[in-house]
Amino acid sequence: MTEAPLLSIENLVVDFATDDGLVHAVDGVSLTVRAGEIVAVVGESGSGKSVTAMSILGLVRTPPGVIRDGRILLRGEDLRAVSGERLREIRGGEVAMIFQDPMTALNPVMTVGQQIAEALRLHDRDLSADTARARVVELLRKVGVPDAEQRYRQYPHEFSGGMRQRAMIAMAVANDPDLLIADEPTTALDVTIQAQVLDLLRTAQRETRAATILITHDLGVVAELADRVVVMYGGRVAEEADVRSLFARPRHPYTAGLLASVPRPDLDGELLSIPGSPPNMIDPPGGCAFHPRCPMARDRCRTDRPELRDLGDGRRSACHFADELDEGSALFSAEEAAG
Ligand SMILES: Nc1ncnc2c1ncn2[C@@H]1O[C@H](COP(=O)(O)OP(=O)(O)OP(=O)(O)O)[C@@H](O)[C@H]1O
Ligand SMILES: [Mg+2]
Repeated sequence: MTEAPLLSIENLVVDFATDDGLVHAVDGVSLTVRAGEIVAVVGESGSGKSVTAMSILGLVRTPPGVIRDGRILLRGEDLRAVSGERLREIRGGEVAMIFQDPMTALNPVMTVGQQIAEALRLHDRDLSADTARARVVELLRKVGVPDAEQRYRQYPHEFSGGMRQRAMIAMAVANDPDLLIADEPTTALDVTIQAQVLDLLRTAQRETRAATILITHDLGVVAELADRVVVMYGGRVAEEADVRSLFARPRHPYTAGLLASVPRPDLDGELLSIPGSPPNMIDPPGGCAFHPRCPMARDRCRTDRPELRDLGDGRRSACHFADELDEGSALFSAEEAAG
């Protein structure tokens, strides 16, 4: 028997009105997150990862955004249908978000300590100011902010980027969330700091046992942290699998391309990437959106849009020819990537 998922996104459709036309940012995304698991969401820039994540907490600005369709169920509660008050309660309570740039989430005119204390008291009105303060100092210590007592009184701009991200993580886990959404949490940081913040995120995840949606470009991070992976392309899910199976045998040519895009020590560190560019989301290609870049594309792929289908073993692929992708097949060779 399978447990009901903690979060379930069903057929999410989000458009943005722009001067150039309607951007079909998310076009029928479905995904689930079970309690405690880490789901990585990967895909090239513009594939709809952030818009999907922001939709969960109702953070898509409307206008220009419009959620056209879909349900977002948190333990069965439809987040698109709940009151504004309930949604604010969920934000920073049951569901917390960590952004790429903590400056966008931190209030510049409030001290870091006050903000985290406020987040705590928002979800526990009986908490005294003193207790909240003590808990925040403790939280700051836990996430590795040195001199937590002094840091409590400082403003976000007095923190380094890495320290700000630590403070964000402290704020995110303050109310012991069931779901953490981390959107490129380390992309803006120096490489050495990235590793530290990722370690911290992993520790925070273990301690809170929060399910986590981790949006990242970094397949190394995926391999290290994720239980399951959702690969997005052109506003849709191209493939979904547990992390081991995905790396061992991708079942969508786009995933194969992504996996080939990492630096290869056996090729003198040469970076292979998928030829061509991501689809124009105002006027996406017909059929399979990946067909113009796909080495396997056939006539059917140009006309017939593949639905995400179940391949068994918890795997799903939106490729007509998923079964023809063989183990170890080199779909994207060095020559192809160069050409
Ligand atoms: N406010 C907006 N107005 C217009 N278009 C938008 C807006 N926000 C997102 N989009 C468009 O929606 C599409 C999906 O964007 P999204 O930010 O989800 O991509 P992403 O996968 O997170 O990319 P990245 O890896 O660069 O963060 C893109 O084409 C983007 O230009
Ligand atoms: Mg993004």
